[in-house]
Amino acid sequence: MTSTYTLNNGYKVPVVGFGTIIPDGQETVTAVKKAIKNGYRLIDTAEIYGNEVSVGQGIREAMAENNLQREDILVSTKAWHSHRGYQQTLQAFNASLDKLGLDYVDIYLIHWPANAKWHDDWRELNADTWRALEELYRAGKIKAIGVSNFLAHHLKALVEDSEIKPMLNQIEYHPGFAQTAAAEYAQSQDIQVEAWSPFGGPDSNVLQDATVNEIAQKYGKQPSQVILRWLIQKNIIPLTKSTSDAHMQANLDDFDFALTSAEMQAIDEAPYSGGFQFDPDTARS
Ligand SMILES: NC(=O)c1ccc[n+]([C@@H]2O[C@H](COP(=O)([O-])OP(=O)(O)OC[C@H]3O[C@@H](n4cnc5c(N)ncnc54)[C@H](OP(=O)(O)O)[C@@H]3O)[C@@H](O)[C@H]2O)c1
Repeated sequence: MTSTYTLNNGYKVPVVGFGTIIPDGQETVTAVKKAIKNGYRLIDTAEIYGNEVSVGQGIREAMAENNLQREDILVSTKAWHSHRGYQQTLQAFNASLDKLGLDYVDIYLIHWPANAKWHDDWRELNADTWRALEELYRAGKIKAIGVSNFLAHHLKALVEDSEIKPMLNQIEYHPGFAQTAAAEYAQSQDIQVEAWSPFGGPDSNVLQDATVNEIAQKYGKQPSQVILRWLIQKNIIPLTKSTSDAHMQANLDDFDFALTSAEMQAIDEAPYSGGFQFDPDTARS
């Protein structure tokens, strides 16, 4: 996977990433190793997934077995909401770094915004958390900093309150739950969008969506590939999770066809068919 986007700080990130909501232990180690062997170069985890140790082990073993250097692989992790605030976030970052067994991470994200429903001082809280990311970025411990699950108004406030603009926003985005307002605002600010749960996660019917399946038949592609193509054409990085070699390979094979604008729009308008649909304005975090 050599195609990349250039973030607003000049850092290059692959156009497709690998997600690791996978049970901790050997299952995660094996999946990460298989993903890297299959060509993934962006590996996404988070403190809350509880598997940073296994992700780090998988990365180190894959580097040794595939003759790769640290700079060949981008590692992304996230600060959970229980560690908001400047000091707590610095500590959470150092704990993640230790668990991963790395000297730096490529991408570090605030996992969820503080919201007005649960925090009167939500804006200050997000800005204070962000100051820790800015400091770690300036110290060279992180190559690119960003946020996750930020809606347009959360992102707008943070952009106004920060010295360094976020470089990424990772949001839930799939047919039936296309968060176009959040994505378009981020893109208007030159903030790279990543899509989590592009297939709606493990328990949805997103891959069965009628429009997606009709388009897949037309191009002789799998429904999963049509969804990834739809995201790629929006310049959104899909983060796909799989433990199967066949799925990992199919999920990287999305570049030899293109959707028409009518097809793009039809998928934008697909009805809800599962996924998480958490609302960052009301989620208790
Ligand atoms: N920032 C956040 O708040 C947040 C929240 C959730 C997720 N994420 C990130 O986003 C990543 C992806 O989301 P996700 O793990 O919820 O799920 P997902 O990638 O939307 O879906 C994973 C499911 O799809 C299946 N699958 C994968 N490729 C397939 C293919 N080509 N054909 C058919 N089925 C396929 C997988 O099964 P197999 O394993 O059998 O292939 C698994 O059951 C996560 O792992 C995580 O890194 C971030």
